[in-house]
Amino acid sequence: MAPSASSLLFKFTAFTLYFCVLLGTTSGQLSANFYARTCPKFRSVIKRAVNSAVSSEPRMGASLLRLHFHDCFVNGCDGSVLLDDNSTFVGEKTARPNNGSLRGFNVIDGITQLESDCPGVVSCADILAGAARDSVVALHGPSWRLLFGRRDSTSASLSDAISNLPGPRLNLSGLISSCSNKGFTANEMVALSGSHSIGQGRCTVFRNRLYNDNNLNASFAATLQQNCPTTGGDNNLSPLDYSSPVSFDNRYYNNLIIQSGLFHSDQELFNGGLADAQVRAYASNQNTFFRDFGNAMVKMGNLGPLTGSSGQVRTNCRRVN
Ligand code: HEM
Ligand SMILES: *[C@@H]1O[C@H](CO)[C@@H](O)[C@H](O)[C@H]1NC(C)=O
Ligand SMILES: *[C@@H]1O[C@H](CO)[C@@H](O)[C@H](O)[C@H]1NC(C)=O
Ligand SMILES: *[C@@H]1O[C@H](CO)[C@@H](O)[C@H](O)[C@H]1NC(C)=O
Ligand SMILES: *[C@@H]1O[C@H](CO)[C@@H](O)[C@H](O)[C@H]1NC(C)=O
Repeated sequence: MAPSASSLLFKFTAFTLYFCVLLGTTSGQLSANFYARTCPKFRSVIKRAVNSAVSSEPRMGASLLRLHFHDCFVNGCDGSVLLDDNSTFVGEKTARPNNGSLRGFNVIDGITQLESDCPGVVSCADILAGAARDSVVALHGPSWRLLFGRRDSTSASLSDAISNLPGPRLNLSGLISSCSNKGFTANEMVALSGSHSIGQGRCTVFRNRLYNDNNLNASFAATLQQNCPTTGGDNNLSPLDYSSPVSFDNRYYNNLIIQSGLFHSDQELFNGGLADAQVRAYASNQNTFFRDFGNAMVKMGNLGPLTGSSGQVRTNCRRVN
């Protein structure tokens, strides 16, 4: 029996769909051994640079982790966050979430220079992904599987950096929707927030919480207020995790249970809402937190990467080639 027109159409459509899915997975997918042939040393170069930066200043591990986050949440992990402003170009560095608080750029510059064997091969976006993972490991946190093959953008977006990055004054539903805009579940958002187990924040970011929030531990507040008065001291720093500021662990969640989260947004995760149970679970089981955090970081690293022949590999991460 001759195939009917509709069954032929069906076969054609099925074939086309199959082909597109196939193309989609190869062009959209990152791989673990992307640089195995073209730059085999680059993993060890990143690790060495990160370990040396973190041993001279432990906070740098936090700063490098945050750089990857601020890269990925703004139009995908494409190195856009690293582009410098100049007279004809506006990048993302002066966006409110970045301005005056994003750091680690010199460490990234150093890594690019260290790749003397294979200049222009490893993308800036991949360097950020590797540096973030190695930073967490250097501060005794979990490891996760690194995937590579991201390409660098030739543009940046100040306005997307302002609107896509979650802010410290958000409430729980604001945090959930900000992260769901990037494809993360509420559970993944709570896991990712555990990155506030390391690093420092400026007084200007949490002053309002110190003097106005009521879900705030009194003795914790009294200590912080000394370094963050009602006026002045905007740039004074306090640790995001007061109980173990340079160790990546689950103490952050234990702090939340005693109302000692630094930012309003941190404490929102434990404020009588739906996230309370997960905070308690992570506070009592570090392995669960580590597992979920690693999975969420892999997912974050997969956000909208440019691959194949899109974008470019910058030779200087601070400027388009
Ligand atoms: C969930 C919503 C989040 C909010 C509202 C938020 C907000 C902030 C703010 C306001 C600061 C301090 C900036 C300053 O001092 O001006 C900060 C620091 C930091 N954030 Fe987040 N963040 C969030 C999620 C994340 C995620 C997903 C990561 C990483 C995967 C991350 C990693 C860090 C680190 C490591 C620091 C310390 C950086 C340093 O010491 O240099 N944050 N965050
Ligand atoms: C960025 O920070 C600098 C120094 O703190 C300040 O002078 C400038 O006005 C800020 N820019 C924006 C766009 O907020
Ligand atoms: C959270 O914040 C948004 C925007 O500020 C507000 O509309 C909403 O009512 C708040 N939700 C809760 C539960 O407080
Ligand atoms: C405040 O923090 C201290 C530890 O610094 C803790 O012993 C106390 O229980 C906390 N108070 C509340 C209300 O959580
Ligand atoms: C300004 O920055 C852009 C983006 O990195 C770059 O393409 C351009 O060449 C730079 N211009 C100058 C004068 O450096």
